[in-house]
Parts: sequence; C-alpha cells; structure tokens
Amino acid sequence: MAVVTGGGRGIGRAIALRLAAAGAHVVVNYYVHRDAAEQTAAEVRSHGVRAHPVQADMKDPAQIRALFDEAGAIFGGLDIVVSNAASAVFRGTGELTAKHWDWMMHTHPRAFLLCAQAALPLMRGRRGRMVAVSSIGSQRTIPNYAGMGAAKAALESLTRYLAVEYGPLGIAVNAVSGGAVSTASWTELPEAAAVLTDIVRRTPAGRVATPEDIAAAVLFLCSPAADMIRGQVLVVDGGYSLPL
Ligand SMILES: NC(=O)c1ccc[n+]([C@@H]2O[C@H](COP(=O)([O-])OP(=O)(O)OC[C@H]3O[C@@H](n4cnc5c(N)ncnc54)[C@H](OP(=O)(O)O)[C@@H]3O)[C@@H](O)[C@H]2O)c1
Repeated sequence: MAVVTGGGRGIGRAIALRLAAAGAHVVVNYYVHRDAAEQTAAEVRSHGVRAHPVQADMKDPAQIRALFDEAGAIFGGLDIVVSNAASAVFRGTGELTAKHWDWMMHTHPRAFLLCAQAALPLMRGRRGRMVAVSSIGSQRTIPNYAGMGAAKAALESLTRYLAVEYGPLGIAVNAVSGGAVSTASWTELPEAAAVLTDIVRRTPAGRVATPEDIAAAVLFLCSPAADMIRGQVLVVDGGYSLPL
C-alpha cells in the first residue's frame, strides 16, 4: 500500500508504476491534472493492483490530512509514502518574494513533514518506508534555483531527523536526489536544450537521468535490501555532481 504525492505525471508517475509493478496498491495524489492522474491510475491497475487517484494540495495541511485519511479508509494501513510533488518558482535571490519562498517551503519540506506525521499511525505494526524526492540543487548552486535549493536542503535535513525519530517505530526514511531528469518540467526553463546538452557533456554516465532511473532508486529504498540505509540521500545523477 503506497501513497505517491504528485503521482500523476513525470517522476511521480514513474514511481507509481514501478511500485505497482512490484505489487503495491497505489494512491496517486494529484493537484491540478486529474486526467493525467486517472491515466496513471489505469496504468497502475494494469499491473494487477489497486489504484486510487486522490486530489490534495500539498500546500494545505487539511488536504494532506484528508489524503491520508482517505488512504487509510481505502487500504486500512500504509507501507510506503513517497513525497514527490513539486512546484518551483525559478528566480534569482533578488527577485524571490516572501510568497515565492513560502510556496516552495510549504510544497516541499512542510508537505513531507505533514505527510510523514499523517502516515505514521497508518504504518503502525508495518515495515514502513518513507522516501522524499530531492534534487542536487540542495547542495550545489543552480541559476534561478535558490528557493528550490533551500527547500530541498530543508527536505534532506528533515529526512535525517525523521529517520532517527521513526527508526525505532520500524520506519525507514530516506531521500532520492536527482540531477537533471528528462521530464516536462524542463520546458519551463529558458534555454533548456542548451543546458541539457551541457549537462550530458559533463555527466560520466553520458546521458540525462530518466524518471524510471529515479523510480528504480525509490523502489530500492523501499525494499528489504535497503533496510540498513537510514536518513540518507541517494544521488541519482549519472555522476554529474562528482567533482571533475
Ligand atoms: N525534472 C527534474 O529534472 C528533476 C530533477 C531533480 C529532482 N526532481 C524532483 O522530482 C520530483 C518530481 O519532479 P517532476 O519533474 O516529475 O515534476 P513535474 O513534472 O513538474 O510534476 C510535478 C508533480 O507535482 C504535482 N504537484 C505540484 N504541486 C502540487 C501540490 N501543491 N499538491 C500536490 N501535487 C502537486 C503535480 O501534480 P498536478 O499535475 O496534478 O499539478 C505533478 O504531478 C520533484 O520533487 C522534483 O523537485 C526533478
């Protein structure tokens, strides 16, 4: 039984499908794009598991609570939470407003905190797994990524605290951090093609990661093989962020 936030599109969709292929029933959370979530849910069901698209805005604590109440009512418990939903404001620090800042802090670290809190009682007596999806902008500077970088850094710090506090309760908490991942969100960035070409040139693996690459890492962290991995950030960027 899994909840994937922002599971209708992009990386979240790939995670929902990967978990489904491994046998998980999935609540596919979405915010705006209901059609995409329903399409993903149909693909999840093709793996012979259950899928439920559920709308909830990750910026709204009451909607997060309602999402997990619904997941609990549907499944009667929960094994996996993937905090993947994202919404970025790409600006330099000079143009970032308080509203932009709050938007990104609420959508990313605060949402993960509230999802973890809401999921906790549903994971009682189970081998729970929580995975946050981060980005290497948490550690490195990327032009116009200051707000997201700070939000993802907070997300990764929270991952460590949750891992320590939830470990004794049988729950493992980790994060997967992507470099550039080939999704539609890249089309929002100016000069995306040139940026991606440069990234590939500097990536030891010789290509940009796919959503499936991220999903495979999430599945690994949810598997028994990863039981001794706690509070870690697994970077999946083809080696891009290694010092050259
Ligand atoms: N793409 C990359 O290059 C890259 C690199 C590193 C890390 N990441 C991380 O990977 C994750 C997924 O990224 P992506 O590229 O797949 O993003 P994306 O294609 O832009 O999709 C964003 C997803 O988040 C959902 N979402 C946005 N705001 C939401 C809200 N307030 N409440 C609930 N859901 C919301 C969207 O749902 P709706 O469609 O319903 O609005 C959508 O499913 C993010 O955490 C991102 O930071 C991405």
